[in-house]
Amino acid sequence: MKAHWENLRSELDQIKSKDLYRECKEFEGLDFCSNDYLGLARSKVLRDALALSITDNTTGSTASRLVKGHRKGMEDFETKFAEFVESESSLLVSTGYVANMGLLDTIADSQTYIFTDRLNHASILDGIRISRANKKYYNHLDLDHLESQLAKAVSEQSSARKKRIIVSETLFSMDGDVPNIKRLIEIKRKYDCILVLDEAHSFGVFGREGRGMIFESLTASEVSEIEYRVYTLGKSLGLEGGIIATSKIGREYLINRMRAFIFSTAPLPIISITALSALKLVQEAEKQRAHLKEISKCFRDGMIQAGFQIAPSTTHIIPVLMPSEAISLQYSKLLSEFGFDIRAIRPPTVPTSRLRVSLNALITMSEIESLLGAFKKIREKISD
Ligand SMILES: Cc1ncc(COP(=O)(O)O)c(C=O)c1O
Repeated sequence: MKAHWENLRSELDQIKSKDLYRECKEFEGLDFCSNDYLGLARSKVLRDALALSITDNTTGSTASRLVKGHRKGMEDFETKFAEFVESESSLLVSTGYVANMGLLDTIADSQTYIFTDRLNHASILDGIRISRANKKYYNHLDLDHLESQLAKAVSEQSSARKKRIIVSETLFSMDGDVPNIKRLIEIKRKYDCILVLDEAHSFGVFGREGRGMIFESLTASEVSEIEYRVYTLGKSLGLEGGIIATSKIGREYLINRMRAFIFSTAPLPIISITALSALKLVQEAEKQRAHLKEISKCFRDGMIQAGFQIAPSTTHIIPVLMPSEAISLQYSKLLSEFGFDIRAIRPPTVPTSRLRVSLNALITMSEIESLLGAFKKIREKISD
């Protein structure tokens, strides 16, 4: 249908005219943009483990977990992962996106109220949308606002038995900031809510042996109060996949009811086998975590001293806020000429344009200093 393509062309032209056009570009230069926070995706040990993991007699898993796709290696990884994050059990799925989207679709329905931080990841927002739950946004990190939304909902919901879910990232992927997790626990208790926390960007970097952000502030008993935690294998673990940590009954229910799990081919068997090695490497990466914290502080301090506006990040994700889409694209291009791969993140992914600088443990202190120098030179060039 000709009109369809013409309409798409005209919409794409509009996107271009607003400097919001996106295209896939292969990485080039020093990695300051990936989520390979510990450098595991580039580690020889993990690449060797991946090569050795081809013990299965098929390449693909060839069916869903409930048909022929299931392998013992998947359950072995789930058991080890659950032990590591101090959860009763866990369930492996194909990506973190599928984990969030499928989980929320499964545990919520049109009678459910879901309270979501305004800046939660698209996979969370899409899960809420598909579930048809009643979505209540609260302002980013504003738990007073969350409480006032909850108090209103409690009086609105006709019966006390109606389901309420709070969902938040524990380290916001595009802002690098962190919610008050202890208070989230108190609020979920007070208003009798199910709590879903997404540990995608903190796993491997924060908490004892990289267990994640919740282990920075919660006691074991508080951790056990969180009904669902979502992780991805695609960031610090250097692979791909998603995993939901929950109770035994939670896992059993998801296996029976989660459409995104039931109706999709199981992950490649090599993923779960290699993931066991990746988990061990994460645990042992104490030096990498310490180094990452050191370079993050140095970069944050350096940018503030130089007068750049950075988001109030306390982590290794340090967004540099830009006055416009065009200027963020210009910085990204010029930074690549200096040898740095840093991408411009623009609306609608984020409310305002920024360069998402995400640091990893393979970056040296002298590369941080060169990057600070490059930012200053680019600013001079642009303002000329
Ligand atoms: C907070 C958060 N959750 C979930 C995901 C999805 O994970 P995956 O990339 O494994 O699909 C992402 C991806 O960037 C994310 O930032």
